[in-house]
This record gives sequence, structure tokens and C-alpha cells, in this order.
Amino acid sequence: MDKEIDLPCPACKTIIKLKKNAPQEPVVSGFDSQAGDALMKKIIKNSRALPPMPQIIIKANEVLSSDKAGFKEVGDVLATDQAMATRVLKLANSAYYGLTVPVSSVQQASALLGFQALLELITVVSTSKMMGKALTGYAIDARDMWEHSLSVAIGAKLIAEKKFPALVNDAFNAGLIHDSGMLILDDYVAEEKATFEDAMDKKKTIQEAETLLFGFDHGIIASEFFKKWKLPPCQTHAIRYHHKPSQSGGDPLSRVLHAADALANENKTEQNFANEQNAIDFVGFSDDEWAAIGLEVTESVNHIMATMS
Ligand SMILES: [Fe+2]
Ligand SMILES: [Fe+2]
Repeated sequence: MDKEIDLPCPACKTIIKLKKNAPQEPVVSGFDSQAGDALMKKIIKNSRALPPMPQIIIKANEVLSSDKAGFKEVGDVLATDQAMATRVLKLANSAYYGLTVPVSSVQQASALLGFQALLELITVVSTSKMMGKALTGYAIDARDMWEHSLSVAIGAKLIAEKKFPALVNDAFNAGLIHDSGMLILDDYVAEEKATFEDAMDKKKTIQEAETLLFGFDHGIIASEFFKKWKLPPCQTHAIRYHHKPSQSGGDPLSRVLHAADALANENKTEQNFANEQNAIDFVGFSDDEWAAIGLEVTESVNHIMATMS
């Protein structure tokens, strides 16, 4: 019988499970002469897929983490970007936020919804352009990418609200950008499309196919990239391990993200998503609760997408 052995990848330290007597999988890409750390650094250096962190999010987070009153300062920053302010108000008035009176100013939105919800609105609006991009290498269209990002953000937020309230904001923000590493890698996947598709046809997961091509996956490269954004370390860590929460050192946010990702991927088996059942058990919902969260995610995503499209 084949024996499994654990082999740490020299580049990214991920544990690779090898079957002792099984034929070894060749490194297949045209990048193999520089796979691993050197390739990752090069890709990050050349990446134009992700913009600098939006100033409005930096400002909103600064205000939120200080004791200052807040929304006037954020309103001042928003006032310098009228297009964004308009989109934020439009979303505030969507069915998702359930306001009975329409709001017409950022101050009013903050007063009625609370500063936390205002920050969430700003984050959604300012990341929609970034995450709503077509990925030619991965063959994912722009709408699907944005829908998936929103689904994971809302799913992670709902899970955190019910089980880990202290993680709500981090869960939402990390959920929105959890797959941004795919934006960074897309051009390179496109270069090796035949190899990537062949791996997917063999029922490999996306991150296994990436590891075959590059020596690392989209979670790892995103977490390295976001060091430049100065994202809170707990979000960076959870993004790194969102497909492998069992390697996260028991991090609850990694498991919340994974569970939300699994929920969003239910019924989308073509993506070869591999659940880590331990993480889903850790967040601890009954089948009925799980189905109810799934329904709430779908309804919320539909409301937001209808407003923003
Ligand atoms: Fe992912
Ligand atoms: Fe995902």
C-alpha cells in the first residue's frame, strides 16, 4: 500500500503530502527555473493588478481605531471623491441596509446606520472595482469574481457575528479580498493555461494547480503582497491560510474565512474546492443554521449587486 509522507516545501514551508510509492508529480511550468520565493518576489514587484490601498479605507480605519468621533473626518475625505460618495449613498439606501428613510448625506448615513456600517459601505464601494475583474487565466468572469468576493465577505461576517463577535470587521474585510492573489497571478496562469487546465481537469484544486505552476498559491502571494498595504496582520494571516486553515496555528479567522468560502462554493463543484471539515465543524452550526446563513448570504449579495450594477 502507498505510504504518505509529509515534505515541507523549501520555498513556502507548506507541507506537501507525497505518496511514497506513487509516481512523483513533475514540476511542470515554464517558471520552474525560478519557482518559489524568487518568482513570488518578481511577480509582486511587477504586479499592477492591485492598486495601492484606497486612501479612504486607511482614513476610515484610522478614525475607527482612535477615540475620535470620526464620521466628519471620513465625510471630509469622501467629499473629495464625489463619485465614491454617490455610490456609498446609493448602497446605503439599498434594501440590504433596510433603512425606512432614505439618506442623502454621509453624516446622515453614519447617524442612522452607525459608523461601523458606514465603514463597511466604503470598503465595499472602494474594493468593487478591484475585485470585479475578469480573470482570463482562471476563466472567471468579472461578475462571478465580485459575487464570490461579496459572498465570502458577508458569509464570514455572519459567521463571526454569531460565533466570534470580536472578528466581525476583520472577517468582512478579509473576506472581500481573500482571493485577490488570483488577480496577481492571473497573467502568469494565462501564460501556462494548458498546464493549469490540465491540472484542473485532473480534479486538482485551484491552489494545488497554482502550487504545481509556481511553488506557492494565491493565498500565500496575497498575504505577501498585503504587507505593502499594511493590512492588519490577523487579516493577512487568514488570507494566507484560507484554503488550509489546519496550517494556520489554530487561527479562528482563517477557519471563519474557509467556512465562508466553502459556503460560497457549495453548488460550484467545478472549482474543485476542497473543504477542510474541521474548520467548518469549528465554527459550529447545525445543518439548518448553515442553510439559513447560506440563504441570507444569497439574498444580501443579490441586494448589493442589484444596487451597484
Ligand atoms: Fe481562494
Ligand atoms: Fe474564494
